[in-house]
Amino acid sequence: MRVAIFSIKRYDRSALASANQARHDLTFFETRLTADTAGLAAGHGAVCAFVNDVLDRECVARLAEVGVRHIALRSAGFNHLDRAAAAEHGLTASRVPAYSPHAVAEHAVGMILALNRQYHRAFNRVREGNFALDGLLGFDLAGKTVGVVGTGTIGAVFSRIMAGFGCTVLASDPAWNDELAGVAQYVDLPELLESSDIISLHCPLTPETHHLIDASALGRMRPGVMLINTSRGALVDTAAAIAALKSGRLGYLGLDVYEEEADLFFEDLSNQVIQDDVFSRLLTFPNVLITGHQGFFTREALDSIAETTISNLTAVETGEAAAWVPGVEPQKTTA
Ligand code: NAI
Repeated sequence: MRVAIFSIKRYDRSALASANQARHDLTFFETRLTADTAGLAAGHGAVCAFVNDVLDRECVARLAEVGVRHIALRSAGFNHLDRAAAAEHGLTASRVPAYSPHAVAEHAVGMILALNRQYHRAFNRVREGNFALDGLLGFDLAGKTVGVVGTGTIGAVFSRIMAGFGCTVLASDPAWNDELAGVAQYVDLPELLESSDIISLHCPLTPETHHLIDASALGRMRPGVMLINTSRGALVDTAAAIAALKSGRLGYLGLDVYEEEADLFFEDLSNQVIQDDVFSRLLTFPNVLITGHQGFFTREALDSIAETTISNLTAVETGEAAAWVPGVEPQKTTA
């Protein structure tokens, strides 16, 4: 199948080429997939998109118009795809439902350790010959309560790691994960917010979870709480988080994702003036740590994403079952 691959970087190009073994005819585009760039996919049966590609109604319609039949997402999340529009145009879509959940879970744990013990600040101090410890005081993780919002693949791994630190793990998820019996205790979200010293978000972005952490949720949290978001930026109302940082309600904030990250992340903007004043304000806090959506970025995860993406494309071509995006599966034909 001819596949137009968007938002490609050197690292995932080599992972995809190696998983492909010349099975499909891949065309690589560095540009993001949007309604404006969708025309580049003309002549291709499928497109392959990443998390900050904008697969809105307009883009999907344009893809259908130029003959694309399948959208292969090389991500677990599918909030950037207008599924209703894809279904209306008769397009199918696949995704990578699980790839090294350890990559994201371990990154979340890394953010907790860095924020708590201030590795990022200590690194700079020591390089400048400043060995003073003032301002670096942390706390023992053992004995603290960690709230995990979403205990699917990644949240479950994260819960086990935190239990291993000696933390009490509270979990909130409409679907309980039986494998976490003895590891996490399920409570409702308000109780989790009120009882946790550290809160980590591992649920998908949906209309229901948009701004799940808003001013009212932040108001329920313990003063000085640590909030970690490695899931999707819009789970957190950034303006409310900034207000909570200023008031001291939020004691630490670790973000691997950001509401408006599409215009920033994955690019080298070091020679440009950042136009996003909200993001720039976040960078001024000593107790905020931001990484640029790198939770997934391990060798194991890249290889696994590439392999599942190529096998999804092969399944689409041969009529077998791919890892379909819910609601955008092939229509069943009646005999
Ligand atoms: P998953 O689908 O295995 O688990 C998600 C869990 O969230 C499910 O158990 C679901 O029932 C639960 N959930 C849904 N609505 C909820 C709500 N309102 N409150 C609490 N829980 C709710 O997904 P997985 O693989 O664990 O990924 C989680 C999220 O991590 C993804 O949706 C994606 O946004 C993000 N992610 C981030 C990456 C990064 O590089 N930073 C990489 C991969 C995923």
